[in-house]
Amino acid sequence: MKKIAFITSGGDAPGMNACIRAIVKYCLNNQIIPFAVYDGFQGMIEERGSVLQFSDVDNIIQRGGTIIGTARSAAFITTEGRVKAIQFLQKEQVDGLIVIGGDGSFTGAAILGKEMNIPIIGIPGTIDNDLIGTDYTIGYDTALNTVIDAVDKIRDTASSHHRIFFIEVMGRNSGFIAMNAAIASGAESVLIPEEITSIPDLVESIRSNNKGKRSSIILVAEGDDAGGSFEILNQVKPFLPEYNLRHTVLGHIQRGGNPSANDRILATKMGVEAVKALLEGKSNLMIGSVNQHIVHVPIEKTIEKSDKINHQDLDLVAQLRTNS
Ligand code: F6P
Repeated sequence: MKKIAFITSGGDAPGMNACIRAIVKYCLNNQIIPFAVYDGFQGMIEERGSVLQFSDVDNIIQRGGTIIGTARSAAFITTEGRVKAIQFLQKEQVDGLIVIGGDGSFTGAAILGKEMNIPIIGIPGTIDNDLIGTDYTIGYDTALNTVIDAVDKIRDTASSHHRIFFIEVMGRNSGFIAMNAAIASGAESVLIPEEITSIPDLVESIRSNNKGKRSSIILVAEGDDAGGSFEILNQVKPFLPEYNLRHTVLGHIQRGGNPSANDRILATKMGVEAVKALLEGKSNLMIGSVNQHIVHVPIEKTIEKSDKINHQDLDLVAQLRTNS
């Protein structure tokens, strides 16, 4: 193993730079050439990449985003696109590939792993925390803290003006951010894609909670089956004419910012482990973290559509509602 290529792919996540730094430094210290491919699979197809040096990763551990860029590549879904990507890696004499990304990127990585004979290792990098086989993904902890900070601020207005706020957070297919932000910010309700939303139940819970309190925070994951925060507000509005309802979409603010200590540590451990796995001759694996231990998980398993949410955790929100 003389040369290892790596990409960041899909939505950026805080901690990706810490991971890139770990890969580059560990490679250079072990006489391996670290080869960055820019803008994910798209850059691979367009033959854009370069060898990185120590100086390229100076002072990036604390920075959000990804210095090598990322993309969601439509061309990579086609066989023609993937053939070009593989030809580029072969031309560059790459011996191993590391993909830092989420479920879409791992779906691509799993297909690529079958089509080429270059070993491939995945590192979970997404704020959604929706990959199977790891307790946490890089970026999730930072995003969760960003959301909690924003919800705390909105609560000041909610309680001052006696308003019910529907706050929409990211999570197209997963309610991790919504659920744990709801627990950590003391929200009165939470709606996530893993559960069916009942508008009558929601109306009832708002009425019951607001007998004892005159403001409420309801966290809505963007992928909820009843719609986003605005649609849900409009569905409950006719039943709650006496209430002052508002909605806020937090949006991409959740993906930015300096990574938390947990994300930097996770990213560093996973980056080094990915290089080690390639050196040990492993392939088609994701590096995960389970009970504080680094684990290897077959990449196909990580993208299974199973529900990773602990639904008992979800009950905490209802159990701690003020129902006087
Ligand atoms: O990074 C994952 C994610 O944040 C999802 O929760 C969200 O639906 C999606 O990315 C939005 O990403 P973009 O706007 O970049 O397509």
